[in-house]
Amino acid sequence: MALLPIIVAPDPRLKLKCEAVSEVTDELRTLMDDMLDTMYDAPGIGLAAPQVGVTKRIIVVDVTKNDNERQPYQMINPEITWSSEELLDYEEGCLSLPDQYAQVTRPEKIQLTYMDRDGKTKKIEANGILATCIQHEMDHLEGILFVDHISKLRRDLIIRKLKKYKAQLPPDRLDKLDKVDA
Ligand code: NI
Repeated sequence: MALLPIIVAPDPRLKLKCEAVSEVTDELRTLMDDMLDTMYDAPGIGLAAPQVGVTKRIIVVDVTKNDNERQPYQMINPEITWSSEELLDYEEGCLSLPDQYAQVTRPEKIQLTYMDRDGKTKKIEANGILATCIQHEMDHLEGILFVDHISKLRRDLIIRKLKKYKAQLPPDRLDKLDKVDA
């Protein structure tokens, strides 16, 4: 169990398209456990592998609020097979865009398939905040951030704020971030 440093935007590593996973190894299971720990610690409700410097199609999600009723998902190669015409507006944030929020509109309901930590194929239906969160995390696998869904004007404003925020981060944090790439 370890906490992983989360990459903060803007960063070219958050713009990469991630590769599919062909085999679930112990290394990947450890990565997914560490991603969940990192997400709970942040705290957040979702985290995608590229946010911790791993360019693979892996996400973790848990939208429950109560620590005693955790319902974590660890999803490998998630694929949306159906989405509803009904849409949902949600005020989204992202662990890679600290303290920034914007309303994003996405399908309210989705069906998806993914591979679990045992390599088994699962099929689920999600709606509401779970659907929003899964779609947000899956965007990360394509190099897409929630700010890519809003106007350029608002996006530029948020990116400017993040650049300022990053400029005042202590150097040791930036060292850690560089190590993630190795
Ligand atoms: Ni995010």
